Amino acid sequence: MKNEVVWRCPSNIALVKYWGKKENQIPCNASLSMTLQHAFTQVSLQLHEKKEKGVALEYFFENQKNEAFGQRVQKYLETNAKFFPVLNEHAIIIHSTNSFPHSTGIASSASSFGAISLALLSASDYPEEDLRHQASFLARLGSGSACRSMFGGYALWGELPGVDHSSDMFAIPVNEIHDHFSDMCDAILIIDDEPKKVSSSSGHALMEGHPYAAVRFQQANAHCATMLQVLQEGDFNGLIQIIENEALALHAMMMTSEASYLLMKPGTLLAIDKIRNFRLETGIPVCFTLDAGPNVHVLYPAKHEEAVHSFLKSELAGSMKGIIYDRIGTGPEKMSR
Ligand code: PMV
Repeated sequence: MKNEVVWRCPSNIALVKYWGKKENQIPCNASLSMTLQHAFTQVSLQLHEKKEKGVALEYFFENQKNEAFGQRVQKYLETNAKFFPVLNEHAIIIHSTNSFPHSTGIASSASSFGAISLALLSASDYPEEDLRHQASFLARLGSGSACRSMFGGYALWGELPGVDHSSDMFAIPVNEIHDHFSDMCDAILIIDDEPKKVSSSSGHALMEGHPYAAVRFQQANAHCATMLQVLQEGDFNGLIQIIENEALALHAMMMTSEASYLLMKPGTLLAIDKIRNFRLETGIPVCFTLDAGPNVHVLYPAKHEEAVHSFLKSELAGSMKGIIYDRIGTGPEKMSR
């Protein structure tokens, strides 16, 4: 065994949203996402001689010791040590870097826990053929949506009647994809880059006892089932309808929870309005989705890249702080060994 393992794991953008969970990171509904290409976390895991008992971790983010996230990782490793035999024999140092800036609405916990799980399994000599599946199971325990980052293209997480191998414990790749959707782009409009006022974990918790919870969970499962069909058939209108409905349903849950809150900003609404108008005027199949934040993900096929980019620059440049251009990705990559 070499004493350094390096993995890159991308982030993902949910098209059908996971919002609400049970104990042990079990989702209340199925969700479906697109894996990104350029937004990734790279983790370098170094193995050292171990002197003490228990998990010995030093965690660096962008070359600085990061106590807050380091403690979250430490707790995660202590809880799940039995899955990572390498922790018994070695002290570990993790150096983590992101390819994208902070507070941009790109899920960094998803790519971080994805990369950490992959690196630890690799260092534990876990069999290659089952590595992504096991990493999906383990990444989920660190950050739910991380389990969907293990596969390129599209991934489904959550048990769905009639879908073989679908599970609440891990994600599976969605392989039957029409050509129309094999080359999708995601332009992330940074409307606001302030840290979120309400964390995702508080948001998930507010779904407990939410007056609309049961209907929402049913809706998301139905959306997943329809989306699987739409992705197979290449139906753009069907896809757009679900994606935009999902984004607004997610935010509707926040606005109607017991402690209600609002993460969209005026710039978010302006972007949504302009994107819908642009679609109507040009017939270009472009749509928006939102994460748990004010930033807008604009989704469109690569062949319309030029038209969409010039629309975004001319119509929306004044109401945002920047754009990150990303696209559908091929999944995690091992950079060493
Ligand atoms: O994985 P978490 O706990 O950060 O939750 C993710 C929640 C959303 O990003 C809003 C939706 C999703 O499915 O990714």
